[in-house]
Amino acid sequence: MDKITLSRPDDWHLHVRDGDVLKNVIPDTARRFARAIIMPNLKPPVTTVTQALAYRERILAAIPDDCQFEPLMTLYLTDNTSAKEIQLAASNAHVHAVKYYPAGATTNSDSGVSDIKYTYTALEKMEQTGLPLLVHGEVTDPNVDIFDREAVFIESVLEPLLKRFPNLRLVLEHITTAHAVDFVKSMASNVAATITPHHLLMNRNDIFKGGINPHHYCLPILKREAHRTALIEAAISGNPKFFLGTDSAPHSQASKESSCGCAGIYSAHAAIELYAEAFEQANALDKLEAFASFFGPDFYRLPRNTDSITLRRKSWDVPTELPFGNETLIPLRAGQTVAWHLDK
Ligand code: DOR
Ligand code: ZN
Repeated sequence: MDKITLSRPDDWHLHVRDGDVLKNVIPDTARRFARAIIMPNLKPPVTTVTQALAYRERILAAIPDDCQFEPLMTLYLTDNTSAKEIQLAASNAHVHAVKYYPAGATTNSDSGVSDIKYTYTALEKMEQTGLPLLVHGEVTDPNVDIFDREAVFIESVLEPLLKRFPNLRLVLEHITTAHAVDFVKSMASNVAATITPHHLLMNRNDIFKGGINPHHYCLPILKREAHRTALIEAAISGNPKFFLGTDSAPHSQASKESSCGCAGIYSAHAAIELYAEAFEQANALDKLEAFASFFGPDFYRLPRNTDSITLRRKSWDVPTELPFGNETLIPLRAGQTVAWHLDK
């Protein structure tokens, strides 16, 4: 197969930041995807519907004229999120989920949840209204090995949480381990997961190949090969619980190439093309469309897209850097090639 046409995909997990850089990053996503779930981890975070709607307007202003793109907004869960705010979110047409960051787990998560028990009234309202909870599934205990943080989170936080709120609609975001795959499979249809292109294409050796590579540092961190294989199996399985979410997370080159570099991989410039590579390597290109374009909207109870995109097998060079406000951004595969090309 040298050409594939897919129903237009959506990105169910995306960081676009704010301000000047929106006009640099939004076009990459808007040329590929019809919609994206927009992460709320700004500084300060997006904690109210009013803030989410204002952020949505700033994103809309950055969409190129020749693209149709809909940002799907989320709220950032804190210890103080009220049931009233959840009700407002659930009844707003532009807010589609609430994001749970354990405090300190990752970039801009300082205002995250310090103990899940403080969020019970909010979660109760979410369970009642059907508003999904999007989970960054890692414990923050510094005594837990960084490669085990997802597995420990599942056992110590997620399992008890879903026992308490069995009907909560929940997406375990950017899963990275066989444990997460098994857990999601074992739950009812209210529990799903997103998988990134970088966790499908790379393992933890890629952080250290030929020297330390800060552009392959993300959270949850890349895991060993056996876990990558488990993610591939899940993605190509045709199980509707697993769908596309890039977690494309731009940071300036300076903040990545630093003595204390930020976590995050920018993949929006080649997102669907990179997924095509991963599915092709697994001989499963025929499974890409459902993963990229059907299972996400079905979970979020939104219509599937009706237009399409075409990818061709044609290697292209990824720029060595991209503009990012007054700075630069190093995209995934910078200076290297991607095997599939999107028809524009
Ligand atoms: O690598 C990551 N980058 N993981 C996250 O959870 C957050 C994200 C970001 O916002 O940069
Ligand atoms: Zn993310």
